[in-house]
Amino acid sequence: MKPISIGLLGLGTVGTGVVKIISNHQDKLMHQVGCPVEIKKILVKDLVKERDVTIPSDMLTISSDDIIYDPEIDVVIEVIGGVEETRKLLLQALNNKKHVVTANKDLMAVYGPELLSVASRNGCDLFYEASVAGGIPILRGLTDGLASDRITKMMGIVNGTTNYILTKMCKEKLSYTEALKRAQELGFAESDPTADVGGLDAARKMAILATLGFSMTIDLDDVKVLGITEVSDEDLAFSQKLGYTVKLIGLAQRCKEDKVEVSVEPTLLPIDHPLAMVNDEYNAVYVYGEAVGETMFYGPGAGSLPTATAVVSDLVAVMKNMRLGVNGSSAVLPQFEKRLKTAEE
Ligand code: NDP
Ligand code: HSE
Repeated sequence: MKPISIGLLGLGTVGTGVVKIISNHQDKLMHQVGCPVEIKKILVKDLVKERDVTIPSDMLTISSDDIIYDPEIDVVIEVIGGVEETRKLLLQALNNKKHVVTANKDLMAVYGPELLSVASRNGCDLFYEASVAGGIPILRGLTDGLASDRITKMMGIVNGTTNYILTKMCKEKLSYTEALKRAQELGFAESDPTADVGGLDAARKMAILATLGFSMTIDLDDVKVLGITEVSDEDLAFSQKLGYTVKLIGLAQRCKEDKVEVSVEPTLLPIDHPLAMVNDEYNAVYVYGEAVGETMFYGPGAGSLPTATAVVSDLVAVMKNMRLGVNGSSAVLPQFEKRLKTAEE
């Protein structure tokens, strides 16, 4: 049986997790899709860097052409990060009829509509579950599980790094600098953590969630953002004395005239509030639907294996579509098409 062939862009925190899951869960993948999965090439920056996984040296490349233009590669998994260069790479991949899986919220929050539209035009899948809340299957929860409901509000913690920092500052009295350093060492933070601590990473995720949840276009520029850089040890100690804790909360809600407001800001929560008990790199999002009422999604929001689980589960979805001979299934949402047309007019 011909294996499904993968081109992996990136072998850092998430890419390493992807390699481990594909290698360690072959039996499960085989059971799910009925054929083996093999990684053919991996794009990296540094060919001689020491890696956490053993990779035959001829599998690594510094040329994206080795992946994008290889006719044997069926699916491209993008876990390098970045926006402009990565957009170009993924457009090339889609135009070469490769299905794409990405964990890149920076890219999807801005160029999602364009990429989804190009995927659709080429009959390709483009899935991005890992871009929001790491290992929590919240995008599928919204687009499949709650597809029939009218979502009214989403509220939660969607950045693992800042939640880790706030937890360590509150519970272990670590300094902000030390807590951030540990989050970086553990692979939760972005290579440049400015977007994490400044709230932009959470804003990107809330824009993606709100777009999918409310079935309307939410631009990143419309999200009000305040990060945790101004939260001091004193603020945290004082709030604790009063029975509160501070969390970086993303909020998206329908307002009057069906408008939507989206924000990210440090928020005081009573210590017995369920979100106050979400610690370390964990994320949690309440989703309120008119019919379903209240649901909560909870789990690891960052880190190698949790995030890679979401990536490889997207890969399984692509492979199932390939076997069924369908594609682009849930990739293009009507609101994206609408937004793209408006942009082109
Ligand atoms: P890392 O910085 O750990 O890894 C990035 C990888 O991409 C490295 O292997 C690097 O190569 C390679 N790379 C980067 N730029 C280039 C380039 N120009 N050409 C070739 N290779 C390149 O990132 P993460 O794994 O942490 O994150 C990857 C993506 O996943 C990002 O979009 C991030 O936002 C997203 N994500 C991350 C999560 C996490 O917990 N870390 C969770 C959810 C999403 P080399 O190894 O040679 O330096
Ligand atoms: N830097 C991100 C975070 C990774 O800390 O949440 C997961 O998207």
